[in-house]
Amino acid sequence: SQGSITDRLDRPMRDLRISITDRCNFRCVYCMPKAVFGRDYAFLDRDELLSFEEITRISRIAAAHGVEKLRLTGGEPLLRRGLEGLVEQLAALRTPDGRPLEIALTTNGSALAVKADALKAAGLTRVTVSLDSLDDELFQSMNDVRFPVSRVLDGIDAAHAAGLGPIKINMVVKRGLNDHEILPMARRFHGSPFSLRFIEYMDVGTSNGWQLDEVVSSAEIVQRIGAELPLEPVAAAAPGETAARWRYLDGGGEIGVISSVTNAFCGTCNRARISTEGKLFTCLFASEGHDLRALLRSGVDDEGLAAAMASIWGARDDRYSEIRATLTPELRAERSKVEMSYIGG
Ligand code: GTP
Ligand code: 5AD
Ligand code: SF4
Ligand code: SF4
Repeated sequence: SQGSITDRLDRPMRDLRISITDRCNFRCVYCMPKAVFGRDYAFLDRDELLSFEEITRISRIAAAHGVEKLRLTGGEPLLRRGLEGLVEQLAALRTPDGRPLEIALTTNGSALAVKADALKAAGLTRVTVSLDSLDDELFQSMNDVRFPVSRVLDGIDAAHAAGLGPIKINMVVKRGLNDHEILPMARRFHGSPFSLRFIEYMDVGTSNGWQLDEVVSSAEIVQRIGAELPLEPVAAAAPGETAARWRYLDGGGEIGVISSVTNAFCGTCNRARISTEGKLFTCLFASEGHDLRALLRSGVDDEGLAAAMASIWGARDDRYSEIRATLTPELRAERSKVEMSYIGG
């Protein structure tokens, strides 16, 4: 049961996204709105979370099955205490042919200025920082905890100085909320070492009240930026990438657009997800996961765990973003989906 595995649509498992906490210090309106994630929201208890040893064990088996990249997400992963210790354990893992895994982290950047050096020392490869606006007033209202944008920008600089690159910056675009920030963001990072990626607002979870007309398509984003700063497409660096890449004709670097609504990329999706409490999800939009934590805590040996993961991946036929367009709003509402802070973006 070792070696590379493929699913029912012949897609390998290459990327493992691990949510290490369901908590976040932000309350982004499109992700953890205060009305749902309020003062008395019941987050998971410590013993419900996978331990660092459990995460490392799952990652080791995943690497044996062909995974080459681990991404730590949340919630806000920098809130998990002792995170550097986990990164150290993960950095010691190897692919079957002896290479270290790429270890990436998606963060809101609020604690990066403090943690960048320690994370680099522990063996983290790179970070991706979420940043939805440069306008301080808008940024503070979008994170809904009045967190100032200057501290995130400081965090990005600290990560760059620490060598945690190439750094990517993720902007979720929601029409009428921050789409007027597309050009200011593009101008700001044009000519910088950071690659800015625009993400189509997705219908993840059930608490953000998503509507199709709030999505700004990647085509529109590229057109708006290209009118001022001409762009040309770049070939994908790796199969199964989320972002389509574009390069500024004047040499000012690259942007990416992630079109999970208008141009789904399920056909090459090689991503598995581990939720905060140790369930393996085969799609961001799956309604149920497979309880690896129960298996681990029942004393399964490595061979049993490897066989379980291979059989779950082997049965996978998910392609939600491709079928979304065929669903009516009613059918979409009927599907139960898990929150992104739990499954990990
Ligand atoms: P790179 O390794 O840097 O390319 O990162 P990534 O794009 O795989 O991950 P990141 O955490 O930066 O995610 C960027 C956006 O893409 C987020 O909004 C994710 O929720 C979304 N995303 C990532 N993977 C998938 C996926 O498999 N399906 C869909 N629909 N969206 C995804
Ligand atoms: N649609 C698209 N992207 C989202 N993210 C969070 N919620 C959504 C959504 N509804 C983004 C975060 C982060 C990444 C992991 O996912 O901003 O950059
Ligand atoms: Fe937190 Fe990221 Fe969700 Fe914002 S998008 S609430 S920073 S997990
Ligand atoms: Fe992969 Fe599911 Fe996203 Fe499609 S919708 S790209 S199958 S995670």
